[in-house]
Amino acid sequence: MEFYRIQGGRRLQGAVRLQGAKNSALPILAATVAAGGKSVLHHCPQLTDIDATVAMLRHIGCRVTQDGETVTVDASAADSWEIPEHLMREMRSSIIFLGALIARFGRATVTQPGGCDIGLRPINLHLSALQAMGVRVEESGGQIRCSAPDGVRAAELPLALPSVGATENILLAALCAQGETVIRNAAREPEIGDLASFLRACGADITGDGESTVRIRGGRALHDAAFTIMPDRIAAATYMVCAACTGGSIEIAPVIPEHLSPVLPVFREAGCDVRLQGQTLCMTAPARLTRVRSVQTMPYPGFPTDAQAVVMAMLATAQGTSVITEKVFENRFHHIPELRKMGADIRTADCGVAVIEGVPRLHGAAVTASDLRGGSALVAAALGAEGETTVARIAHIDRGCERFAQVLRGLGADIEREQE
Ligand code: EPZ
Repeated sequence: MEFYRIQGGRRLQGAVRLQGAKNSALPILAATVAAGGKSVLHHCPQLTDIDATVAMLRHIGCRVTQDGETVTVDASAADSWEIPEHLMREMRSSIIFLGALIARFGRATVTQPGGCDIGLRPINLHLSALQAMGVRVEESGGQIRCSAPDGVRAAELPLALPSVGATENILLAALCAQGETVIRNAAREPEIGDLASFLRACGADITGDGESTVRIRGGRALHDAAFTIMPDRIAAATYMVCAACTGGSIEIAPVIPEHLSPVLPVFREAGCDVRLQGQTLCMTAPARLTRVRSVQTMPYPGFPTDAQAVVMAMLATAQGTSVITEKVFENRFHHIPELRKMGADIRTADCGVAVIEGVPRLHGAAVTASDLRGGSALVAAALGAEGETTVARIAHIDRGCERFAQVLRGLGADIEREQE
Protein backbone atom coordinates (compact mmCIF):
# COMPACT_ATOMS: atom_id res chain seq x y z
CA MET A 1 0.00 0.00 0.00
CA GLU A 2 1.29 3.44 -0.84
CA PHE A 3 1.39 6.44 1.46
CA TYR A 4 2.56 10.05 1.38
CA ARG A 5 5.47 11.27 3.46
CA ILE A 6 5.29 15.03 3.88
CA GLN A 7 7.77 17.38 5.55
CA GLY A 8 5.64 20.36 6.48
CA GLY A 9 6.39 24.04 6.77
CA ARG A 10 7.48 24.89 3.24
CA ARG A 11 5.74 27.90 1.78
CA LEU A 12 4.04 26.93 -1.49
CA GLN A 13 4.42 29.24 -4.43
CA GLY A 14 3.86 28.86 -8.15
CA ALA A 15 1.37 28.03 -10.86
CA VAL A 16 -0.94 25.05 -11.33
CA ARG A 17 -2.55 23.95 -14.55
CA LEU A 18 -5.92 22.79 -13.35
CA GLN A 19 -7.16 19.28 -14.11
CA GLY A 20 -10.47 18.50 -15.80
CA ALA A 21 -13.42 18.00 -13.48
CA LYS A 22 -13.77 14.46 -12.16
CA ASN A 23 -17.47 14.82 -11.40
CA SER A 24 -18.11 16.08 -14.88
CA ALA A 25 -15.91 13.56 -16.72
CA LEU A 26 -17.43 10.51 -14.98
CA PRO A 27 -21.08 11.07 -15.99
CA ILE A 28 -20.00 12.26 -19.45
CA LEU A 29 -18.07 9.03 -19.98
CA ALA A 30 -21.21 7.09 -19.01
CA ALA A 31 -23.23 9.33 -21.33
CA THR A 32 -21.12 8.30 -24.33
CA VAL A 33 -23.07 5.01 -24.22
CA ALA A 34 -26.33 6.93 -24.65
CA ALA A 35 -24.78 9.02 -27.44
CA GLY A 36 -24.03 5.74 -29.16
CA GLY A 37 -21.34 6.85 -31.62
CA LYS A 38 -17.79 8.12 -31.30
CA SER A 39 -17.11 10.67 -28.55
CA VAL A 40 -13.77 12.38 -28.15
CA LEU A 41 -13.30 13.89 -24.71
CA HIS A 42 -10.48 16.36 -24.10
CA HIS A 43 -9.14 17.58 -20.72
CA CYS A 44 -10.21 14.34 -19.09
CA PRO A 45 -8.38 14.00 -15.75
CA GLN A 46 -6.14 10.97 -15.28
CA LEU A 47 -7.57 9.35 -12.19
CA THR A 48 -8.34 5.88 -10.91
CA ASP A 49 -12.09 6.65 -11.03
CA ILE A 50 -11.69 7.39 -14.74
CA ASP A 51 -9.87 4.05 -15.19
CA ALA A 52 -12.74 2.29 -13.41
CA THR A 53 -15.26 3.97 -15.71
CA VAL A 54 -13.23 2.97 -18.77
CA ALA A 55 -13.30 -0.63 -17.49
CA MET A 56 -17.12 -0.44 -17.33
CA LEU A 57 -17.33 0.97 -20.85
CA ARG A 58 -15.11 -1.83 -22.16
CA HIS A 59 -17.13 -4.41 -20.27
CA ILE A 60 -20.28 -3.47 -22.20
CA GLY A 61 -18.45 -3.56 -25.53
CA CYS A 62 -17.28 0.04 -26.11
CA ARG A 63 -13.89 0.58 -27.70
CA VAL A 64 -11.95 3.06 -25.59
CA THR A 65 -8.54 4.61 -26.25
CA GLN A 66 -6.70 6.96 -23.92
CA ASP A 67 -4.01 9.35 -25.07
CA GLY A 68 -3.00 11.53 -22.15
CA GLU A 69 -5.96 13.75 -21.36
CA THR A 70 -7.93 12.68 -24.43
CA VAL A 71 -10.27 9.74 -24.13
CA THR A 72 -12.04 8.42 -27.20
CA VAL A 73 -15.06 6.20 -26.74
CA ASP A 74 -16.58 4.38 -29.67
CA ALA A 75 -19.86 3.17 -28.22
CA SER A 76 -21.29 1.88 -31.50
CA ALA A 77 -20.30 -1.71 -30.70
CA ALA A 78 -21.72 -1.70 -27.14
CA ASP A 79 -23.87 -4.80 -26.82
CA SER A 80 -24.47 -5.36 -23.12
CA TRP A 81 -26.68 -3.59 -20.60
CA GLU A 82 -25.31 -5.41 -17.57
CA ILE A 83 -22.61 -4.13 -15.24
CA PRO A 84 -21.39 -6.61 -12.63
CA GLU A 85 -21.05 -5.83 -8.95
CA HIS A 86 -17.24 -5.78 -8.87
CA LEU A 87 -17.24 -2.87 -11.34
CA MET A 88 -20.25 -1.08 -9.80
CA ARG A 89 -18.61 -1.18 -6.37
CA GLU A 90 -15.60 0.82 -7.55
CA MET A 91 -17.35 4.18 -7.18
CA ARG A 92 -20.59 6.03 -6.72
CA SER A 93 -20.86 7.50 -10.21
CA SER A 94 -21.21 3.99 -11.68
CA ILE A 95 -24.93 4.49 -11.00
CA ILE A 96 -25.05 6.99 -13.88
CA PHE A 97 -24.69 4.02 -16.25
CA LEU A 98 -28.27 3.20 -15.27
CA GLY A 99 -29.72 6.17 -17.17
CA ALA A 100 -27.18 5.82 -19.99
CA LEU A 101 -27.96 2.12 -20.57
CA ILE A 102 -31.70 2.73 -20.44
CA ALA A 103 -31.33 5.51 -23.02
CA ARG A 104 -29.37 3.18 -25.29
CA PHE A 105 -30.97 -0.24 -24.77
CA GLY A 106 -34.24 0.51 -22.97
CA ARG A 107 -32.98 -1.66 -20.13
CA ALA A 108 -30.15 -1.96 -17.60
CA THR A 109 -28.96 -4.39 -14.95
CA VAL A 110 -26.66 -2.93 -12.31
CA THR A 111 -26.04 -3.28 -8.56
CA GLN A 112 -25.85 -0.75 -5.76
CA PRO A 113 -22.87 1.56 -6.41
CA GLY A 114 -19.83 1.90 -4.16
CA GLY A 115 -17.97 5.15 -3.48
CA CYS A 116 -16.60 7.18 -0.61
CA ASP A 117 -17.90 6.35 2.87
CA ILE A 118 -19.60 9.66 3.66
CA GLY A 119 -23.05 8.49 4.75
CA LEU A 120 -25.87 6.27 3.54
CA ARG A 121 -26.14 7.62 -0.01
CA PRO A 122 -29.40 5.96 -1.11
CA ILE A 123 -30.56 5.92 -4.76
CA ASN A 124 -34.29 6.05 -4.06
CA LEU A 125 -34.74 9.31 -6.00
CA HIS A 126 -33.01 7.85 -9.07
CA LEU A 127 -35.23 4.77 -9.04
CA SER A 128 -38.54 6.50 -8.32
CA ALA A 129 -37.94 9.01 -11.13
CA LEU A 130 -37.23 6.18 -13.56
CA GLN A 131 -40.39 4.39 -12.40
CA ALA A 132 -42.38 7.54 -13.09
CA MET A 133 -40.97 7.34 -16.63
CA GLY A 134 -42.40 3.88 -17.10
CA VAL A 135 -39.27 1.94 -16.16
CA ARG A 136 -39.95 -1.28 -14.27
CA VAL A 137 -37.42 -1.67 -11.44
CA GLU A 138 -36.88 -5.09 -9.84
CA GLU A 139 -34.39 -5.53 -7.04
CA SER A 140 -33.31 -9.03 -6.10
CA GLY A 141 -30.11 -10.83 -5.12
CA GLY A 142 -28.25 -7.53 -4.99
CA GLN A 143 -29.14 -6.72 -8.59
CA ILE A 144 -31.25 -3.84 -9.85
CA ARG A 145 -32.97 -4.88 -13.08
CA CYS A 146 -34.59 -2.12 -15.07
CA SER A 147 -36.69 -2.61 -18.17
CA ALA A 148 -39.29 -0.61 -20.03
CA PRO A 149 -41.68 -3.07 -21.67
CA ASP A 150 -43.88 -0.24 -22.93
CA GLY A 151 -41.03 2.17 -23.65
CA VAL A 152 -39.63 5.01 -21.56
CA ARG A 153 -42.07 7.90 -21.39
CA ALA A 154 -41.54 11.60 -20.85
CA ALA A 155 -42.70 12.82 -17.46
CA GLU A 156 -42.88 15.77 -15.10
CA LEU A 157 -40.47 14.89 -12.29
CA PRO A 158 -40.29 16.99 -9.11
CA LEU A 159 -37.26 15.91 -7.05
CA ALA A 160 -37.66 15.82 -3.27
CA LEU A 161 -34.10 17.17 -3.06
CA PRO A 162 -31.79 18.43 -5.80
CA SER A 163 -29.71 15.26 -6.14
CA VAL A 164 -26.82 15.56 -8.60
CA GLY A 165 -26.84 11.88 -9.53
CA ALA A 166 -30.62 11.63 -9.87
CA THR A 167 -30.68 14.72 -12.12
CA GLU A 168 -27.96 13.14 -14.30
CA ASN A 169 -29.76 9.80 -14.55
CA ILE A 170 -33.04 11.45 -15.53
CA LEU A 171 -31.28 13.63 -18.12
CA LEU A 172 -29.91 10.50 -19.73
CA ALA A 173 -32.97 8.26 -19.55
CA ALA A 174 -35.14 11.07 -20.93
CA LEU A 175 -33.11 11.10 -24.16
CA CYS A 176 -35.03 8.05 -25.38
CA ALA A 177 -38.47 9.21 -24.23
CA GLN A 178 -40.70 10.80 -26.87
CA GLY A 179 -41.91 14.21 -25.68
CA GLU A 180 -40.75 16.61 -23.03
CA THR A 181 -39.41 15.48 -19.66
CA VAL A 182 -39.30 18.23 -17.05
CA ILE A 183 -37.11 17.94 -13.93
CA ARG A 184 -38.20 20.28 -11.16
CA ASN A 185 -35.91 21.07 -8.22
CA ALA A 186 -33.07 19.75 -10.39
CA ALA A 187 -29.49 19.96 -9.09
CA ARG A 188 -27.84 23.16 -10.38
CA GLU A 189 -24.21 22.05 -10.01
CA PRO A 190 -21.94 23.12 -12.90
CA GLU A 191 -21.26 19.43 -13.60
CA ILE A 192 -24.91 19.06 -14.66
CA GLY A 193 -24.37 21.90 -17.11
CA ASP A 194 -21.27 20.19 -18.49
CA LEU A 195 -23.15 16.91 -19.01
CA ALA A 196 -25.98 18.79 -20.73
CA SER A 197 -23.46 20.64 -22.94
CA PHE A 198 -21.87 17.35 -23.99
CA LEU A 199 -25.28 15.88 -24.82
CA ARG A 200 -26.21 19.02 -26.77
CA ALA A 201 -22.95 18.64 -28.71
CA CYS A 202 -24.25 15.15 -29.60
CA GLY A 203 -27.56 16.60 -30.81
CA ALA A 204 -29.75 16.39 -27.69
CA ASP A 205 -32.39 19.03 -26.99
CA ILE A 206 -31.88 20.10 -23.36
CA THR A 207 -32.61 23.50 -21.81
CA GLY A 208 -32.60 24.94 -18.32
CA ASP A 209 -29.50 23.16 -16.97
CA GLY A 210 -27.93 25.30 -14.26
CA GLU A 211 -31.43 26.27 -13.15
CA SER A 212 -33.99 24.40 -11.08
CA THR A 213 -36.18 23.38 -14.02
CA VAL A 214 -34.51 21.34 -16.74
CA ARG A 215 -36.35 20.30 -19.91
CA ILE A 216 -35.32 17.42 -22.14
CA ARG A 217 -37.10 16.82 -25.42
CA GLY A 218 -36.25 13.20 -26.13
CA GLY A 219 -36.36 10.95 -29.15
CA ARG A 220 -33.72 12.75 -31.22
CA ALA A 221 -31.00 10.79 -33.01
CA LEU A 222 -27.61 11.57 -31.43
CA HIS A 223 -24.32 11.76 -33.28
CA ASP A 224 -20.53 11.79 -32.78
CA ALA A 225 -19.04 14.70 -30.89
CA ALA A 226 -15.81 16.14 -29.52
CA PHE A 227 -16.03 17.88 -26.17
CA THR A 228 -13.69 19.49 -23.62
CA ILE A 229 -14.35 18.70 -19.96
CA MET A 230 -14.61 21.82 -17.77
CA PRO A 231 -11.96 22.63 -15.14
CA ASP A 232 -12.34 21.03 -11.71
CA ARG A 233 -13.68 23.61 -9.25
CA ILE A 234 -13.05 21.33 -6.25
CA ALA A 235 -9.44 20.68 -7.26
CA ALA A 236 -9.04 24.47 -7.56
CA ALA A 237 -10.30 24.93 -3.99
CA THR A 238 -8.02 22.11 -2.85
CA TYR A 239 -4.89 23.76 -4.27
CA MET A 240 -5.97 27.12 -2.85
CA VAL A 241 -6.20 25.50 0.59
CA CYS A 242 -2.81 23.79 0.16
CA ALA A 243 -1.23 27.17 -0.54
CA ALA A 244 -3.21 28.92 2.22
CA CYS A 245 -2.11 26.36 4.84
CA THR A 246 1.51 27.37 4.17
CA GLY A 247 0.97 31.13 3.93
CA GLY A 248 1.80 30.72 0.25
CA SER A 249 0.73 32.17 -3.04
CA ILE A 250 -0.65 30.36 -6.05
CA GLU A 251 -1.84 30.94 -9.58
CA ILE A 252 -4.40 28.48 -10.94
CA ALA A 253 -5.64 28.23 -14.55
CA PRO A 254 -7.89 27.54 -16.27
CA VAL A 255 -10.75 28.26 -13.86
CA ILE A 256 -14.35 29.25 -14.51
CA PRO A 257 -14.73 32.16 -12.07
CA GLU A 258 -18.48 31.72 -11.65
CA HIS A 259 -17.98 28.12 -10.46
CA LEU A 260 -15.71 29.35 -7.68
CA SER A 261 -18.04 32.06 -6.41
CA PRO A 262 -19.39 29.88 -3.56
CA VAL A 263 -15.88 29.29 -2.14
CA LEU A 264 -14.04 32.57 -2.76
CA PRO A 265 -15.77 34.53 0.06
CA VAL A 266 -14.45 31.97 2.55
CA PHE A 267 -10.85 32.48 1.43
CA ARG A 268 -11.29 36.25 1.47
CA GLU A 269 -12.83 36.21 4.94
CA ALA A 270 -9.84 34.13 6.08
CA GLY A 271 -7.58 36.97 4.94
CA CYS A 272 -6.41 35.71 1.54
CA ASP A 273 -6.00 38.13 -1.33
CA VAL A 274 -7.86 36.50 -4.25
CA ARG A 275 -7.88 37.98 -7.75
CA LEU A 276 -9.41 36.72 -10.96
CA GLN A 277 -8.20 37.69 -14.38
CA GLY A 278 -10.03 35.92 -17.15
CA GLN A 279 -9.57 32.22 -16.50
CA THR A 280 -6.67 32.69 -14.07
CA LEU A 281 -7.00 32.86 -10.32
CA CYS A 282 -4.22 34.35 -8.17
CA MET A 283 -4.27 33.95 -4.41
CA THR A 284 -1.85 35.10 -1.74
CA ALA A 285 -2.39 33.97 1.83
CA PRO A 286 -1.32 35.87 4.96
CA ALA A 287 1.25 34.37 7.35
CA ARG A 288 -1.68 33.41 9.59
CA LEU A 289 -5.28 33.06 8.46
CA THR A 290 -8.20 34.45 10.43
CA ARG A 291 -11.27 32.47 11.41
CA VAL A 292 -14.31 32.24 9.17
CA ARG A 293 -17.44 32.75 11.23
CA SER A 294 -19.71 30.19 9.56
CA VAL A 295 -19.50 27.85 6.58
CA GLN A 296 -22.53 25.73 5.67
CA THR A 297 -22.42 23.19 2.89
CA MET A 298 -25.40 23.34 0.56
CA PRO A 299 -26.32 22.29 -2.97
CA TYR A 300 -24.92 24.66 -5.64
CA PRO A 301 -24.78 27.66 -5.62
CA GLY A 302 -24.15 27.04 -1.91
CA PHE A 303 -20.76 26.16 -0.46
CA PRO A 304 -19.78 22.72 -1.87
CA THR A 305 -19.68 19.74 0.47
CA ASP A 306 -16.66 18.50 -1.52
CA ALA A 307 -14.64 21.50 -0.27
CA GLN A 308 -15.72 21.14 3.37
CA ALA A 309 -12.86 18.92 4.52
CA VAL A 310 -10.06 20.97 2.95
CA VAL A 311 -11.46 24.23 4.26
CA MET A 312 -11.63 22.70 7.73
CA ALA A 313 -7.94 21.77 7.45
CA MET A 314 -7.19 25.40 6.57
CA LEU A 315 -9.23 26.81 9.45
CA ALA A 316 -7.55 24.45 11.95
CA THR A 317 -4.71 26.99 12.21
CA ALA A 318 -6.69 30.19 11.64
CA GLN A 319 -6.77 32.80 14.42
CA GLY A 320 -10.09 32.43 16.27
CA THR A 321 -13.13 30.14 16.21
CA SER A 322 -14.76 28.92 13.01
CA VAL A 323 -17.93 26.86 12.63
CA ILE A 324 -18.57 24.47 9.75
CA THR A 325 -21.95 22.79 9.25
CA GLU A 326 -22.22 19.84 6.88
CA LYS A 327 -25.74 19.84 5.46
CA VAL A 328 -25.44 17.58 2.40
CA PHE A 329 -24.04 14.28 3.68
CA GLU A 330 -24.71 12.79 7.07
CA ASN A 331 -21.25 11.46 7.81
CA ARG A 332 -18.55 13.52 6.21
CA PHE A 333 -16.31 14.25 9.19
CA HIS A 334 -13.95 11.26 9.10
CA HIS A 335 -11.01 13.63 8.72
CA ILE A 336 -11.62 15.26 12.12
CA PRO A 337 -10.06 12.56 14.34
CA GLU A 338 -7.05 12.54 12.01
CA LEU A 339 -6.68 16.34 12.14
CA ARG A 340 -6.84 16.06 15.93
CA LYS A 341 -3.85 13.69 15.84
CA MET A 342 -1.99 16.62 14.26
CA GLY A 343 -2.97 18.91 17.13
CA ALA A 344 -6.17 20.44 15.75
CA ASP A 345 -8.78 21.56 18.27
CA ILE A 346 -12.08 20.57 16.65
CA ARG A 347 -15.26 19.66 18.50
CA THR A 348 -18.29 18.15 16.83
CA ALA A 349 -21.91 18.49 17.84
CA ASP A 350 -25.08 16.87 16.53
CA CYS A 351 -26.50 17.91 13.15
CA GLY A 352 -23.14 17.93 11.42
CA VAL A 353 -21.66 20.93 13.23
CA ALA A 354 -17.89 21.24 13.76
CA VAL A 355 -16.41 23.98 15.93
CA ILE A 356 -12.79 24.71 15.08
CA GLU A 357 -10.63 26.60 17.58
CA GLY A 358 -7.66 27.66 15.51
CA VAL A 359 -4.31 26.60 16.98
CA PRO A 360 -1.09 28.44 16.04
CA ARG A 361 0.44 25.40 14.34
CA LEU A 362 -0.30 21.73 13.64
CA HIS A 363 2.39 19.10 14.11
CA GLY A 364 3.28 16.05 12.04
CA ALA A 365 1.58 12.71 12.78
CA ALA A 366 0.74 9.36 11.20
CA VAL A 367 -2.76 9.79 9.77
CA THR A 368 -5.05 7.82 7.48
CA ALA A 369 -7.30 8.96 4.65
CA SER A 370 -10.76 7.43 4.71
CA ASP A 371 -12.25 9.23 1.72
CA LEU A 372 -11.07 11.36 -1.19
CA ARG A 373 -11.76 14.87 0.10
CA GLY A 374 -10.89 14.04 3.71
CA GLY A 375 -7.60 12.59 2.43
CA SER A 376 -6.68 15.71 0.50
CA ALA A 377 -7.52 17.74 3.61
CA LEU A 378 -4.94 15.74 5.57
CA VAL A 379 -2.31 16.43 2.90
CA ALA A 380 -3.11 20.16 2.99
CA ALA A 381 -2.86 20.20 6.79
CA ALA A 382 0.43 18.31 6.65
CA LEU A 383 1.94 20.84 4.23
CA GLY A 384 1.50 23.56 6.84
CA ALA A 385 2.36 21.43 9.87
CA GLU A 386 5.64 21.33 11.76
CA GLY A 387 7.62 18.16 11.09
CA GLU A 388 6.81 14.95 9.26
CA THR A 389 3.36 13.56 8.49
CA THR A 390 2.55 10.27 6.83
CA VAL A 391 -0.83 9.90 5.14
CA ALA A 392 -1.92 6.30 4.61
CA ARG A 393 -4.58 4.86 2.25
CA ILE A 394 -3.89 7.42 -0.45
CA ALA A 395 -5.73 5.32 -3.02
CA HIS A 396 -8.73 7.41 -1.92
CA ILE A 397 -6.91 10.58 -3.02
CA ASP A 398 -5.92 9.03 -6.37
CA ARG A 399 -9.61 8.82 -7.23
CA GLY A 400 -9.89 12.56 -7.62
CA CYS A 401 -6.58 14.45 -7.52
CA GLU A 402 -4.51 14.11 -10.65
CA ARG A 403 -0.78 13.63 -9.95
CA PHE A 404 -1.32 15.33 -6.59
CA ALA A 405 2.20 14.91 -5.19
CA GLN A 406 3.82 15.95 -8.47
CA VAL A 407 1.74 19.13 -8.68
CA LEU A 408 2.47 20.00 -5.05
CA ARG A 409 6.19 19.39 -5.53
CA GLY A 410 6.03 21.83 -8.44
CA LEU A 411 4.85 24.42 -5.90
CA GLY A 412 7.77 23.67 -3.59
CA ALA A 413 6.20 21.07 -1.29
CA ASP A 414 8.28 18.28 0.21
CA ILE A 415 5.99 15.31 -0.45
CA GLU A 416 6.95 11.80 -1.53
CA ARG A 417 4.86 8.83 -2.50
CA GLU A 418 6.26 5.72 -0.83
CA GLN A 419 5.47 2.03 -0.66
CA GLU A 420 4.72 0.48 2.70
C1 EPZ B 1 -22.32 13.96 -6.36
O1 EPZ B 1 -22.70 12.83 -5.60
C2 EPZ B 1 -20.81 13.98 -6.37
N1 EPZ B 1 -20.32 12.76 -6.99
C3 EPZ B 1 -20.27 14.13 -4.97
O2 EPZ B 1 -18.85 14.23 -5.02
C4 EPZ B 1 -20.82 15.41 -4.36
O3 EPZ B 1 -20.42 15.47 -3.01
C5 EPZ B 1 -22.35 15.40 -4.42
O4 EPZ B 1 -22.80 15.19 -5.79
C6 EPZ B 1 -22.98 16.68 -3.93
O5 EPZ B 1 -22.46 17.77 -4.64
C7 EPZ B 1 -20.24 12.65 -8.29
O6 EPZ B 1 -20.59 13.55 -9.04
C8 EPZ B 1 -19.65 11.41 -8.84
P1 EPZ B 1 -26.38 13.75 -4.45
P2 EPZ B 1 -24.19 12.30 -5.58
O7 EPZ B 1 -27.24 12.72 -5.09
O8 EPZ B 1 -24.77 12.42 -6.94
C9 EPZ B 1 -29.14 12.32 -0.80
C10 EPZ B 1 -16.63 13.70 -4.41
O9 EPZ B 1 -15.94 13.73 -3.37
N2 EPZ B 1 -29.82 11.43 -1.77
O10 EPZ B 1 -26.57 15.16 -4.86
O11 EPZ B 1 -24.17 10.98 -4.95
C11 EPZ B 1 -27.72 11.84 -0.51
O12 EPZ B 1 -27.71 10.81 0.44
C12 EPZ B 1 -18.05 13.19 -4.41
O13 EPZ B 1 -16.18 14.05 -5.51
C13 EPZ B 1 -30.93 10.73 -1.37
O14 EPZ B 1 -31.39 10.80 -0.23
O15 EPZ B 1 -24.86 13.36 -4.61
C14 EPZ B 1 -27.06 13.11 -0.05
O16 EPZ B 1 -27.32 13.31 1.31
C15 EPZ B 1 -18.49 12.69 -3.09
N3 EPZ B 1 -31.54 9.91 -2.29
C16 EPZ B 1 -27.75 14.18 -0.88
O17 EPZ B 1 -28.95 13.58 -1.36
C17 EPZ B 1 -31.09 9.78 -3.57
O18 EPZ B 1 -31.68 9.02 -4.34
C18 EPZ B 1 -26.95 14.70 -2.06
O19 EPZ B 1 -26.56 13.61 -2.88
C19 EPZ B 1 -29.96 10.52 -3.95
C20 EPZ B 1 -29.34 11.35 -3.04
